[in-house]
Parts: sequence; C-alpha cells; structure tokens
Amino acid sequence: MAGITIVGSGRYLPGPPVPNDALARVMDTSDAWIRQRTGIATRHYAPDGVGVSDLAVHAARAALEDAGIDGAQVDYVIFATMTPDYPFPGPGALIAARLGLDQVPALDVRQQCCAIPYALQVADGLVATGAARTVLLVGAEAHAGFMPWTEWRALEDPEVVVSTQARERATRHRGLAVLFGDGAGALVLRPHPKPGHGLIGVRVRSDGHGAHQLYVEAGGFRRRPYLQPWMLEEDLHVPRMEGRELFRAAVTRLPALVRELCAAHDVALEQIDWFIAHQANDRINAAVREALGVPEERVPSNIARYGNTSSATIPILVDELRRDGVLREDQLVCFLALGAGLHWGAALMRL
Ligand code: ACO
Repeated sequence: MAGITIVGSGRYLPGPPVPNDALARVMDTSDAWIRQRTGIATRHYAPDGVGVSDLAVHAARAALEDAGIDGAQVDYVIFATMTPDYPFPGPGALIAARLGLDQVPALDVRQQCCAIPYALQVADGLVATGAARTVLLVGAEAHAGFMPWTEWRALEDPEVVVSTQARERATRHRGLAVLFGDGAGALVLRPHPKPGHGLIGVRVRSDGHGAHQLYVEAGGFRRRPYLQPWMLEEDLHVPRMEGRELFRAAVTRLPALVRELCAAHDVALEQIDWFIAHQANDRINAAVREALGVPEERVPSNIARYGNTSSATIPILVDELRRDGVLREDQLVCFLALGAGLHWGAALMRL
C-alpha cells in the first residue's frame, strides 16, 4: 500500500497582523533588528480567552471542506501543540467534539516545532496497520499566553503608556518574544492511490540533553502545588531559550538528517521539488539551504508574515502553497523541522 498523502488543508490566523513596530512599544526592540536577525515582519496573536482548540476548529473545517469530505469520514485525530487550552486533557478530544466527530480516537502529540514530521510518521503507521484510513492532523498554537507584557492595548494604540518597569521586564525576554506568533493549520491525510507515492520515509530524532535550551519551568507537576504566585513574579511561565544553541543545533542537525533520509530512499537532493521547512528563523533556513546546496526558490518561506507558529507552521505553509497552486501532484516534498525537546525530523512525500 502507498503511504499517506495530503488530500485537504486549511489554516486560520487570529486577529490582525501585529507589526514589529508595535512590539517596540512594549519592549526595547526595533523593526530593523527583528527583520535582520529573523526575517519576521508581522505575526498574529490569539485574543485573550481564545485557545488552540478554538483556532484549530476553523483550520480543520477548511481542511475537511478542501478535501471534500465530511467529518464522519475522519477516523483519527492527531493534535499537535505546545500551548494547550489546559495542562490536561489535551485539545485533541476537544476539537473532535467541536467538529462532531463522535467517539473518534484523538491523540495529542508534544513535539513542539517538530510535531509534524513525528505526526506524519504516526499517521502513516496508523493507516498502514488499518487503525485508520482518514487522519485529521492539526497543529495550533496560542503563544500569546506566555508573552512577557500585560499592556496588550499598547500594541494597537501608540498613546497607551507602558511603565518603565513593565518595559524592562518585557525586554529581558525580547530575544524570545519577538519570534513567536499564533495560528492553526490542518491537514487531511489518506493513503495515496498510486504505489510509490505518498509518504516515502521519515527520520525523527530526540536529544533530551538539550531540553533546557527551550522550556517552560512553571506549570510542571514536579512542584506542590504545581502553580505558585512566585513563579509568575519570576516570569517562570515565559519560556527560557538559549537561542544561539538552538540555532547551532538546527543548522547542523537538519542538513545531516535530510541527507541521511535521502540516502536511505535513494533520493538525490536535486530530485526534491520543495523543501517545506519549519519557520523558526529565516537565517536558520538560509544556513540549512546552503549546507544542502539547495537553491532559495525551492525553500518557500512565510515567516515574514507569521513568525514562528511552532506546530502550526508546516500545515499553514502547506495550505498556502496548495491553495496558490505551488504544490502539485507527483511533486516530491521534503518536510524538515527542529524544535524544543530537542526533537528534529525530516519526511519525504511524493504528492
Ligand atoms: N531586539 C533588539 N535586540 C535584541 C533582541 C531584540 N528582540 N533580542 C536580542 N537582542 C540583542 C541582545 O541583547 C544582544 O545584545 P548585546 O550584544 O548587547 O548583548 C544582541 O541583540 C545579540 O543577541 P543574540 O541573542 O546573540 O542574537 P542572535 O543573533 O543569536 O539572534 C535569535 C537571536 C533570533 C533568538 C536567534 O538566536 C535564533 O533565532 N535562535 C533560534 C531560535 C529557535 O530556533 N527557537 C526555537 C524554535 S523551535 C520550538 O520548538 C519552539
């Protein structure tokens, strides 16, 4: 049987785009710094009270409509997020219920920015064993909940005054805060009808030695109780990130893994039509591209508009490329991503 392929996609971005200049009102940063170091120009934020299950419902409905199927045909939901509505349960069952998918199995995956290569491997395995035929894979993030400012009105209104103390606090986290944006993307996955098509191979890796390169301390169940006021005072709900270490890991590990995957499946890099890479930083993708000797036009980018939307990034980008007619049948695609954990992975798919 052929591997899984993408038969439908959808995306949802909440609220208006927030430009870099708006962030400069709540912390010491600038449009020039953010663009030059990351490639990001705008991002979106989920409004207060709106969680990933809310964002994902829109993307999932669009994906089902695009696939031309109704929800009753979905026999497995996989939900990827690092910013769930609740510490538990995960949002998979929540969105299944919202979509009216009665008693469908719902699995939550926790691989952050690398969720999609992992989830594709799981979905393909579920289909290969007969446990599922149509999988709805959703990635959604509401990073706004960990942003280090409270005066959200200042982003929209230059007249709103931000105190020096609040500004200093946000500035301590500026390297992280400018990167992330919110959104949801959804893919409907089914076995490809043609042999040799669909998912050809996946390589995924982890290295828990790097767990503290990007993690959130507060809200973990090592403490009694697991949430305490001092954690908020010390900003332990804001992720800690060692940006340079992650950067180094991404630009060395991803090219090596892509080469390994291609060698295992006898695929030359020149045969790959599109490298659909996670969008953490345009400089990371430029370095990966150079290490692989791949031309820029084969590595599409949308980070300028959305920033890093973690597990939602690849499905959002896939949806844009499908709807723009860029991704077409028979093309060979390589997905690649590295994220917190560390987790990294690559997948080859013949559409
Ligand atoms: N605005 C202005 N100045 C800033 C900002 C900002 N937003 N952030 C940092 N700076 C300053 C620093 O304070 C520092 O100043 P100094 O030289 O006076 O000390 C200077 O800019 C350089 O800071 P670096 O952190 O060294 O900058 P770098 O070029 O490494 O860029 C960045 C930082 C963008 C975070 C980069 O390291 C990166 O993209 N790393 C990878 C991020 C990543 O992959 N994240 C994980 C995604 S995966 C997931 O699972 C979610």
